[in-house]
Amino acid sequence: MILALFGPPGSGKGTQAKQLIETLGIPQLSTGDMLREAIKQDLPLGIKAKEFMNKGQLVPDALMIELIKERMQEKDCEKGFLLDGFPRTVAQAEALDEMLSGQGLKLDHVVSFQVKERELVDRLAGRIVCSSCGASYHVKTKPPKAEGICDICGGTVIKRDDDKADVVQARLDTFMEATAPVEEYYHKKGRLKKIDALGNESEVLGRILGIINIEA
Ligand code: AP5
Repeated sequence: MILALFGPPGSGKGTQAKQLIETLGIPQLSTGDMLREAIKQDLPLGIKAKEFMNKGQLVPDALMIELIKERMQEKDCEKGFLLDGFPRTVAQAEALDEMLSGQGLKLDHVVSFQVKERELVDRLAGRIVCSSCGASYHVKTKPPKAEGICDICGGTVIKRDDDKADVVQARLDTFMEATAPVEEYYHKKGRLKKIDALGNESEVLGRILGIINIEA
């Protein structure tokens, strides 16, 4: 199965992706995580990406398309994969369709997370993430058991650089301007499935599995 999770910053894509890859047995291709890893390793891609990410802007399409193209060729993607954070522009969506059809594949579902802006801001203001495994927490609604330490891998839990208030607003604006049109692109192709992404994590997971016809 090839599945894409679509939605604004803070809508819960990363949180649900971690659950879905367990259930579906496919890898998570998170472009945000790939870029953060490139920054951590001081790679040329990371150095370039950081200037856009820290301003709440998108990294240029050409870089992102190449990044995902290479990742899709890896062996663990043979049985399908879950896209988290890609495509984020209509140009990326068109490039993805072209890459997949070139391999005789297609995107099965695009699940679009619906969350009101005020809730997104609350979620991002309180989000903390594991600097090792990327697990996502929230200072109020989902704190790690021991303060500052990841429940899963014992890594250090930190605040993301782009979760500062001014950058969050810029990311939400970027979503409305550059990314929201991707929803219409997939709607026209009959592949868009909208879900209410409010509620607890297992309720949201149940809705996603229901809409893609997988038994929980
Ligand atoms: P990326 O890392 O993809 O960030 P994003 O899309 O902005 O998404 P987030 O990670 O902020 O949110 P999420 O929806 O995954 O929510 P989460 O599950 O963490 O991208 C970062 C940057 O990289 C971009 O700004 C851009 O610069 C660049 N980039 C990446 N891909 C790109 C591309 N394709 N093209 C160009 N540039 C690209 O949850 C958030 C919080 O809510 C957590 O605290 C969580 O615990 C909580 N939460 C989750 N679910 C629930 C729930 N059901 N109820 C209550 N709280 C919940």
